[in-house]
Amino acid sequence: MNAIAIDGPGGAGKSTMARALAKQLGYVYVDTGALYRAIGLYMRRLGIPTTDFDAVAGNLIGVKVRLAFRNGEQRVFLGEEDVSDAIRTQDISIAASNVSAVPQVRAFLFDLQRDLAKTNHVVMDGRDIGTVVLPHAQVKIFLTASPEERARRRYEELLEKGMEADYEQVLAELKQRDYDDSHRAVAPLVPADDSILVDSTGLTREEALQRLLKTVQEKLS
Ligand code: DC
Repeated sequence: MNAIAIDGPGGAGKSTMARALAKQLGYVYVDTGALYRAIGLYMRRLGIPTTDFDAVAGNLIGVKVRLAFRNGEQRVFLGEEDVSDAIRTQDISIAASNVSAVPQVRAFLFDLQRDLAKTNHVVMDGRDIGTVVLPHAQVKIFLTASPEERARRRYEELLEKGMEADYEQVLAELKQRDYDDSHRAVAPLVPADDSILVDSTGLTREEALQRLLKTVQEKLS
């Protein structure tokens, strides 16, 4: 099975690029952030402070999270409930970042992610895919862009979805999340030694996609 790992900070365009790449290649696109978000949502609903590592770890036992794929689109479920839309709020972004620092949460999600790549050709995006989850991925990309550009994209995305947003707040939360994701003790956001760095600052979506496609095709051939 072939695996393409795409890691990088929030808002760098990983999901858009990974989805488009998977479509071009006929691979399954796996958005691993959705798993951390689903756990964040679960803990929030229980009223558990997501910064309390022990409480989060202690309540993992009740989490029934799974991914399903319909027409190439990933959906994430908590039990029987499709929470794919409910996890896309700013509040759940923060909760997801918090729970992702809990070692037991990462261990809990490890097999699920690894197993998907055993049975499918995948493009998998996240923070630790090339370093921890799929260290033998054929292609590893570290996709990034400046914080201001990423915040602007995220802000426009929220507005498009009809959600309320404040650019300065989005930027501040994004910088905080960058810091937290890069400085946590387990599986911090760092480029794998053998990853290819792609900076999408100033590139259009199409330009970034073409650059990635070229990189992937060179590596796979
Ligand atoms: O990519 P995203 O914004 O949906 O991710 C939400 C949070 O989950 C992010 O702050 C970091 C965490 N995450 C992670 O730690 N490891 C992954 N493989 C994917 C996401």
